[in-house]
Amino acid sequence: MIKNILAIAFLSSSILMSCNSNDTKKADVKTETINVADSTVIKEGKKIAMGTFKILGSKLKMAIKSGGPIAGIDVCSSEAMKLTDSLSNIYNLTLKRTSLKYRNEENAPNSSEKIILENWQTQLDGGNPIKPSITRNDGEITFVGPIKLKQQCIVCHGSDDFVTPDVRLKLKEHYPTDLARDYKEGDLRGAWVITFPKDYFSSK
Ligand code: HEC
Repeated sequence: MIKNILAIAFLSSSILMSCNSNDTKKADVKTETINVADSTVIKEGKKIAMGTFKILGSKLKMAIKSGGPIAGIDVCSSEAMKLTDSLSNIYNLTLKRTSLKYRNEENAPNSSEKIILENWQTQLDGGNPIKPSITRNDGEITFVGPIKLKQQCIVCHGSDDFVTPDVRLKLKEHYPTDLARDYKEGDLRGAWVITFPKDYFSSK
């Protein structure tokens, strides 16, 4: 009996060991990702969000300069999705913008993003600061960072005092269910959501 138990113990430990050796790389990668400090993830998340914002912002500025906000809407509607998709490929991660009051239904938040956005809004309503959220799931890390509304955004996201009738018309045409209106400068507009794959930080 004892012999059998020992044999089973030996067998299973060697099976485990062989499994381990096969999975060593994967397991190491996973641990490394999990061990990445929140501050590193936040720094990287902010860097990518800022970089994307800069590209999108400069395209938008150029379009508005030559064709006004109407031309800007075309940039936002045709370029924003393409840009976030191609940046996702370049950085090997998933990148999206979301909001509780979204303009494009494709940017609607999932249930966990919604909870984060609602919590931030509650914090801000109570006069408290907010900070990015980091969640870890099976080796993947998701960064969710706030997007505040700036003065230059109100021509397309502000109240009727700032959004001209022709812009309103164009927005309605493109986005019949648009919720992203009536924002004021400094309001929480939404969030960047960046999901880093398992090997992202270890391959850097
Ligand atoms: C020229 C008009 C215009 C300006 C200016 C503009 N936006 Fe937008 N914004 C849009 C359009 C159009 C969309 C929908 C894009 C899409 O289809 O993905 C959008 C979408 C977004 C989204 C994605 C969530 C959603 O509602 O679908 C965020 C976040 C956002 N804008 C933030 C900003 C911020 C912050 C600024 C200023 C720095 C800004 N926007 C300036 C037109 C504009």
